[in-house]
Amino acid sequence: MVRITILRQEGDRKWYDTFEVEERPGMTVLEALFQVQERLDGSLCFRYSCRGAVCGSCAMLINRRPGLACRTQLSDVKGEVIDQSDKHRVLLKKGSQDPKKEEVLVEPLPNLKVIRDLVVDMEHFYRLVDSIKPWINIPDDKSPQENIIDPELQMQIGRYTNCILCSTCHGSCPAAARNGKYLGPAALAKAWRFYLDPRSNKEDLADLLSRVDSKEGIWGCDVVYNCVSVCPRKVPPTTAILKLRDVLEKE
Ligand code: FES
Repeated sequence: MVRITILRQEGDRKWYDTFEVEERPGMTVLEALFQVQERLDGSLCFRYSCRGAVCGSCAMLINRRPGLACRTQLSDVKGEVIDQSDKHRVLLKKGSQDPKKEEVLVEPLPNLKVIRDLVVDMEHFYRLVDSIKPWINIPDDKSPQENIIDPELQMQIGRYTNCILCSTCHGSCPAAARNGKYLGPAALAKAWRFYLDPRSNKEDLADLLSRVDSKEGIWGCDVVYNCVSVCPRKVPPTTAILKLRDVLEKE
């Protein structure tokens, strides 16, 4: 059995509930939540869809670290002890070998409003991402040639298009915690993806840079790489932010 402690919330009321779930080999945190909901407390709310680390719906704090519940195995996180020695990031280490003390702590993602239990309101996050224009103005030159992108450059762009908008980066970001207007790691990584794209024209690039050149943009980042370490798709937003800073400094 594994003890799973969940931060519950309904309106202004917050409390922790602890449940014992029967662990099976390979069981994920999401499956443990299903077990709680199906057998122990049908009122538990959480969000999921694909169950395969594709949709990004099941992002939450697992032992105080943002992650996807469908991708996190209970065996990897049970019994972890939260190390408070670094105030910028959550450090975890394996704790007691006593199975009775092996617990997993599950809480909603920070920096977003909680609707209920583990379900957060994604509206704010989506609005931030939307503030970076998600298309390229390709001139209608009727050229018979396709817009071929160099494969190496495409690989670089691909690192950023892997984002599944789960908002684990946003939930791990100290700048987002301080400033609700901060564009955040996902939006800034997206900005760099469009900056890299050779099909972006001069006006698009100028517009893009003007959107990120502020304290609410790339200059607001603390460069602590939390977003890079929690991203389930290995997108490196801090790298994107530093590259955009380079571009603006040169300009
Ligand atoms: S349920 Fe889709 S990412 Fe976890």
